[in-house]
Amino acid sequence: MKKIDVVLGLQWGDEGKGKVVDVLTPEYKVIARFQGGPNAGHSLHFNGESYVLHTIPSGVFRPGTINIIGNGVVIDPVILCEEIARLEATGTDLSETLRISKKAHLILPTHRILDAASEAAKGKAKIGSTLKGIGPTYMDKTGRNGLRVGDILSPQFMERYERLKEKHLKMLSHYDYQYDITEYERQWFDGVEALRRFRFIDSEHVLNRYLADGVPVLAEGAQGALLDVDFGTYPFVTSSNTLSAGACTGLGVAPTRIGEVFGIFKAYCTRVGAGPFPTELLDATGERLRDVGKEFGATTGRPRRCGWLDLVALKYSVMLNGVTSLIMMKSDVMNGFDKVKVAVAYKTPEGVTSESPYEIGDSVEPVYREFDGWTEDISKIRSYDALPQTFRDYVEFIEAECGVPVKIISVGPDREETITR
Ligand code: GDP
Ligand code: IMO
Ligand code: MG
Repeated sequence: MKKIDVVLGLQWGDEGKGKVVDVLTPEYKVIARFQGGPNAGHSLHFNGESYVLHTIPSGVFRPGTINIIGNGVVIDPVILCEEIARLEATGTDLSETLRISKKAHLILPTHRILDAASEAAKGKAKIGSTLKGIGPTYMDKTGRNGLRVGDILSPQFMERYERLKEKHLKMLSHYDYQYDITEYERQWFDGVEALRRFRFIDSEHVLNRYLADGVPVLAEGAQGALLDVDFGTYPFVTSSNTLSAGACTGLGVAPTRIGEVFGIFKAYCTRVGAGPFPTELLDATGERLRDVGKEFGATTGRPRRCGWLDLVALKYSVMLNGVTSLIMMKSDVMNGFDKVKVAVAYKTPEGVTSESPYEIGDSVEPVYREFDGWTEDISKIRSYDALPQTFRDYVEFIEAECGVPVKIISVGPDREETITR
């Protein structure tokens, strides 16, 4: 019996999961997304081309790989079909390699409107949602009202759709919010029809059969640990479990079947949307990280907030996920900094702590440890031993603090710009 390996983000998303999955895929036969939906934007870069995936697993560019959208994912047929069309235009045929769980929930046009109306009503307290309908769809899932991919095949599909839409329209009447879903609804039904050519599968059975047959499977997370609905910076989080536990519920594999947990983090920190960010830099250093790191959202284009690496948060994420290997991304972005800082504790009104507190308000102040930077351009380096000593000191400090080895170091967006230890 094979175990399923998991790749997930340890910060506030956008750590580089798309690149890492693409780099690791040659070692796997199956890649399976386990939560989130089109709020995700996973970028891949190879042969001089860039691609962004929202719902489709990032193994899709490696020939022969099977890509499964698991039951924990929420799907907008419009966005998924646009994504499929874009990929097929590049010559990637998905009809045989893309499979969709019957138990994945559908994002209705009215879920998107509810998301937008709810955010607008929050005013200054808004989450900064990607407005893809994620929250309302997961609410209908746990509220036991949702529509699932398998329902598309039911003769009662239209009836169920109308019933759920009616419920949404009633809810919307409580908001002062103008909308028109006519055009989106038309595209949505076209999308639903177009999806019928793909295999709707009982992915929990399929995946467990693969594992029983010794087939290597990699689970791909979306978002990051600090956006987890239970352990993230609530309420400024997404609406799913982004942790390794989410791979169990989002794919139907037992906790005893989890193998390696690859935890991905940037050499610094970013966040898009609202919510606490203790190490955020609102100065020229933050701007430099944003400019050099091209820190703009892959889904929404919004500028990402940037700051120093936060070890209090990283250690929390390592603990929650049971990370077995760390992967450090975007190390090249910090080339040429005189000094590099890492938060090792928080000063709070209750004292200094290295444990992530219940609430991270404005009163939390990071305690930093400073490192010498690296002046060399490390993006051309391909072996750990060739990296500057100051850089290796940085990596080894993080490893020692987290108690987990850093096995891969990414020094650029391309597949090739990767150092494996
Ligand atoms: P994901 O959501 O975790 O897949 O990450 P995103 O794709 O949203 O954001 C990561 C961004 O960083 C993308 O634009 C990647 O192409 C880019 N990227 C990934 N790894 C590296 C790296 O090591 N160096 C640099 N400079 N860019 C990287
Ligand atoms: P990937 O997979 C970064 C953030 C949003 C917002 C909050 C809630 O590319 O790492 P939602 O649309 O889920 O209701 O938004 O979560 N967010 C992400 N931030 N990367 C993502 O995905 C994100 N998905 C959601 O910005 O703050
Ligand atoms: Mg992203």
